[in-house]
Amino acid sequence: MTSPILLTGGTGTLGRLVQPLLRDAGCRVRILSRHRHEPGDGVDFVVGDLTTGAGIDAATAGVGTIVHCAGTSTGDDAKTRHLVRAASKAGAQHLVYISVVGAERVPVTSRIDRAMFGYFASKRAAERVVVESGLPRTTLRATQFHDLLLTVVRAMAKLPVIPVPAGFRFQPVDTGEVAARLVELALGEPSGLVPDFAGPRIYGTDELLRGYLRAARKRRILMPVRLPGNAARAVRAGATLAPEHAVGHRTWEEFLEGQNLGRY
Ligand SMILES: NC(=O)c1ccc[n+]([C@@H]2O[C@H](COP(=O)([O-])OP(=O)(O)OC[C@H]3O[C@@H](n4cnc5c(N)ncnc54)[C@H](OP(=O)(O)O)[C@@H]3O)[C@@H](O)[C@H]2O)c1
Repeated sequence: MTSPILLTGGTGTLGRLVQPLLRDAGCRVRILSRHRHEPGDGVDFVVGDLTTGAGIDAATAGVGTIVHCAGTSTGDDAKTRHLVRAASKAGAQHLVYISVVGAERVPVTSRIDRAMFGYFASKRAAERVVVESGLPRTTLRATQFHDLLLTVVRAMAKLPVIPVPAGFRFQPVDTGEVAARLVELALGEPSGLVPDFAGPRIYGTDELLRGYLRAARKRRILMPVRLPGNAARAVRAGATLAPEHAVGHRTWEEFLEGQNLGRY
């Protein structure tokens, strides 16, 4: 029997979509989670925590490929360090990592940069950990997932007057399309840093918000605010966009339509 694929973050927004695709491809899947879960058809769970390293040796034992989707807004480098240490000991043959477009282009140099954009520095540092591990690897950088942006605009729309970061643009991508690309990469040969994966269109933050407000039948006042710092400047200059890799198909509007937001 072939060795199982370890999927970190298999309970998250992206990982939940990766898991069935791996199963459809005939893989056995082992999911790392901080919480206990019932095993399913061809899927088992190992309890572990990448922040402390607890359980990670057991999670990596006997696996060939690791698809590393676990992440939070900070500390992904430390989490990834625990993973690669255990993976190297276990002799893993392919580590597939999901990073973010702009990881290398958003400078996080000041306290204000770190407060607003520390995530990008943590993803960049995690990318380095993956490279320095010497494990055969593939890293894919994706733009913001529709699901994440929906969470953000929903939270913003709780305010009657919404402060909108002036000049910020996004190129949102369908989470399912990213999942499919990750699985394709996981089933292929280690390929290093592969071309970015970005959505089909670029939107200003105001356009994303207006699209949401229209779909949810809400009315709000938008108030542009200029965010300070080098990271914000880089984002305004397009550091988080990949127009040359607009390979995703589903648009923000199509995604919103599928959410039935106007029902309530
Ligand atoms: N969201 C985006 O727009 C976007 C864009 C580009 C790249 N990415 C990257 O894609 C990945 C997945 O993002 P997502 O939106 O799917 O995240 P998510 O929904 O927040 O899920 C996070 C996952 O990470 C796991 N996790 C968190 N801390 C952990 C720890 N200490 N030990 C073990 N597992 C831990 C969680 O598992 P348990 O709770 O079960 O332990 C959960 O499955 C992340 O690396 C993110 O940086 C996201």
